[in-house]
Amino acid sequence: MVVLLVLGLVPSLAAAQFNWEIISQKNYNMAKISGIWYSIFMASDNMTRIEENGDLRVFMRNINPLKNGSLKFDFFFMVHGECVAVTMVCEKTENYGEFTVAYEGENRVLLTETDYRMYITFYMQNIKNGTKTHVLALYGRLPVLSSSYLERFVNICKKYRLNAQNIIDLTNKDVCFPRR
Ligand SMILES: *[C@@H]1O[C@H](CO)[C@@H](O)[C@H](O)[C@H]1NC(C)=O
Ligand SMILES: *[C@@H]1O[C@H](CO)[C@@H](O)[C@H](O)[C@H]1NC(C)=O
Ligand SMILES: *[C@@H]1O[C@H](CO)[C@@H](O)[C@H](O)[C@H]1NC(C)=O
Repeated sequence: MVVLLVLGLVPSLAAAQFNWEIISQKNYNMAKISGIWYSIFMASDNMTRIEENGDLRVFMRNINPLKNGSLKFDFFFMVHGECVAVTMVCEKTENYGEFTVAYEGENRVLLTETDYRMYITFYMQNIKNGTKTHVLALYGRLPVLSSSYLERFVNICKKYRLNAQNIIDLTNKDVCFPRR
């Protein structure tokens, strides 16, 4: 019974369209971003880092704000065909919604927008060995989102000067998924 209800619910949510009126781009309610998120789209000015075997190609699982203002990310990434679980704690900065963390270099992580119930986007600036890389990611509450979210992501990428050609779709690419 429960399973049937859930199965009935998922397609209707996945078909939900991106809705302008309910997005937040500042003054986030961090408690509301807590919970399960799946990697849907990523973009970068260095594709090597987000394509297969890239060090920044991550499959998100959970994002949780901590009491001290830090933001905890739990995700998987692939190393030589193996799923490796990573927990990354980003420290808050004086700018609300902005965090820093040492992971594959030094990173500045910025929550750029969310509607809390369907999607969230982050911008990350990574400095590794003196080279700066920009990465954008869109995570969904569901493993699959409708194409209206891709349109939205293309717009966000433009804002951060990344081309639509630099976008990869991670939907159904997550081989670590069955391990949850
Ligand atoms: C892109 O990333 C790869 C892997 O980290 C690195 O070897 C390469 O130098 C980078 N390219 C640029 C243009 O930064
Ligand atoms: C916040 O709490 C987390 C988890 O306890 C810890 O890893 C992190 O270092 C703390 N950050 C600060 C700035 O105290
Ligand atoms: C850092 O960059 C220098 C010069 O490009 C290179 O020789 C060195 O191997 C790099 N180090 C790492 C850890 O990637």
